[in-house]
Amino acid sequence: MADRPILVLGATGSTGRRVAERLSGAGHAVRRASRRGEVRFDWSDPGTWAGALDGVERVYLMAPHELPVEPAFVDEAVARGVRRFVLLSTRGVVEMRDERLLAAERLVRESGVGWTVLRPDWFDQNFDEGFFRPSVLAGELVLPLGGKRQAFVDAGDIAAVAVAALTEDGHEGEVYEVTGPEALSFPQALDVLARVTGRQVEFRGAPDDYRAVVPADLAEEQIRAWDALSDGEPTDTVARVAGRGPKSFHDYVVGAWEGGAWRG
Ligand SMILES: NC(=O)c1ccc[n+]([C@@H]2O[C@H](COP(=O)([O-])OP(=O)(O)OC[C@H]3O[C@@H](n4cnc5c(N)ncnc54)[C@H](OP(=O)(O)O)[C@@H]3O)[C@@H](O)[C@H]2O)c1
Repeated sequence: MADRPILVLGATGSTGRRVAERLSGAGHAVRRASRRGEVRFDWSDPGTWAGALDGVERVYLMAPHELPVEPAFVDEAVARGVRRFVLLSTRGVVEMRDERLLAAERLVRESGVGWTVLRPDWFDQNFDEGFFRPSVLAGELVLPLGGKRQAFVDAGDIAAVAVAALTEDGHEGEVYEVTGPEALSFPQALDVLARVTGRQVEFRGAPDDYRAVVPADLAEEQIRAWDALSDGEPTDTVARVAGRGPKSFHDYVVGAWEGGAWRG
């Protein structure tokens, strides 16, 4: 098993890139796959799946936002010899009734092979690599979460947990809630960002603020889902599984700022 490449899906994305870096840094053979990856893999083109799966026994399984994990892919993977899936899901998947990721969790549980499910909280990297970057640059973030506190987590810590689950024994059948070390409201997180970078970002967290900027159907669906979220308290998953404490949101902001984030 050790010599076979580990397939990393979403290998150009926030978590996949870091999973692949960590794996190869630890000496594992890695197959980086996505539409623009070293190996072309496209969820919408099943003809690309076999090449990604060839000779693979372990898979970092993630679906990009809004796309499902295709049942036919999981079937093909198992038929071709995959013996372990580490699935990227999300914290709050049950409360928010996230049918896309609940279905993905069911698929790996029922695959007949080993699995670990990762349920991370909001990624720190949303602020510099993902959805919130344009808002940070524009100086205004509109999100109907009011003062709810979330245990923002660094994508590097998610990758560390994923790599442990992919490469060590003892993680099969586990559902890991992966969080940072503290729960912050969005205004508190933006305050950290302002103190480090000097960028002031106004937070507008009321549902009506959101309705004013997002198409009606989507706005109502997301307001309902996020309304079901409770305050996300920190867990000890990163320390327990990766053997070191998780990065704080402050340290993430300092690192991103020193790396050139939010200058554009
Ligand atoms: N952001 C959060 O706070 C958060 C929290 C919990 C869970 N999640 C979950 O995390 C997932 C996103 O993970 P991420 O942030 O690591 O990814 P990401 O940074 O959003 O990147 C998406 C990855 O998927 C690839 N991709 C896009 N379309 C594809 C397609 N049709 N076929 C194959 N690959 C495709 C992209 O590469 P190419 O463009 O090269 O194809 C890229 O590598 C989502 O399922 C989301 O629900 C997110």
